[in-house]
Amino acid sequence: MTDNFAARLETTAQEVAAALEALLSETVLDGEIARPGYLLAAMRHGVLNGGKRLRPFLVVETARLLGAPELAARRVAAALECIHCYSLIHDDLPSMDDDDLRRGQPTVHVAFDEATAILAGDALLTLAFDILSSPETDLPADAKLRLVNQLARASGIGGMVGGQSLDLDAERVAPDEAGIVKLQAMKTGALLRYACAAGAIAAGADDQVLARMTRFGEIIGLAFQLADDLLDVTSDAATLGKAAGKDAGRGKGTLVSLHGVAAARQRLDGLVEEAAELLEPFGGKAETLRQAAGFIASREH
Ligand code: IPE
Ligand code: IPE
Ligand code: MG
Ligand code: MG
Ligand code: MG
Repeated sequence: MTDNFAARLETTAQEVAAALEALLSETVLDGEIARPGYLLAAMRHGVLNGGKRLRPFLVVETARLLGAPELAARRVAAALECIHCYSLIHDDLPSMDDDDLRRGQPTVHVAFDEATAILAGDALLTLAFDILSSPETDLPADAKLRLVNQLARASGIGGMVGGQSLDLDAERVAPDEAGIVKLQAMKTGALLRYACAAGAIAAGADDQVLARMTRFGEIIGLAFQLADDLLDVTSDAATLGKAAGKDAGRGKGTLVSLHGVAAARQRLDGLVEEAAELLEPFGGKAETLRQAAGFIASREH
């Protein structure tokens, strides 16, 4: 990771955190009646707690590469991070992965209570669509509509939530390799794919460029979950800020459990190369995104 890349990652994380901080303020918006304090505190706990903000980074960097307006891109990034944080709050619930630790802190249902954690997730899900559709997201109406529609599809039954459902099935009946790839493409891949597609949509990119960036996002998505599964085996809770060794503990089939650590690392290298090839037409301008692929694959938490 070069210093320049690290600085950019950090700056974007701070800018998106500032946007999220403002969006999760006590200010009651036009059309809202009140913002209950306990629920707002739970939402803030689940969002403003030092995530890596990788999905926002991919939105912002794709948008920058293709010339989308910076402020609007940041709002799209914040919307996506709301969906991601909601997915983590629900993923950690006792009825799902039953985790106590997230981003080095107590999970939302531990710090608050289970019902509030469910509601915090629900409210973050709808907040994402508020952010995208709001007049303050200054993009052409057709781009906004497409961003809303694609985020719904990436998040719902055909995307993240559907993938979480397949993930639950996988604890009962071990899927084959194709099944694992599909569930991962959905539970994690869909939001990362959206991150890259959204930057292109915000920039008004043509279909060819959009398809290329969408494919780049798919590859990044595969690499991301493969790295997550590797870290689950090779790292520890102190480094990860969340429990380790969970997948084997729950008998969850992953590509790592199927092929072993060495083969998984090799596959990761292949994915990073594939991602870099997709960026070739953009030349040096895409250097940050190229490095992002490498970072996602070799991250330590
Ligand atoms: C973790 O995502 C959950 C998965 C989808 C595997 P991240 O590793 O991006 O988590 P944060 O946002 O940095 O906490
Ligand atoms: C979570 O996958 C995916 C989503 C939240 C959609 P994991 O269950 O593997 O994520 P961690 O390991 O708890 O972060
Ligand atoms: Mg899970
Ligand atoms: Mg989990
Ligand atoms: Mg995991």
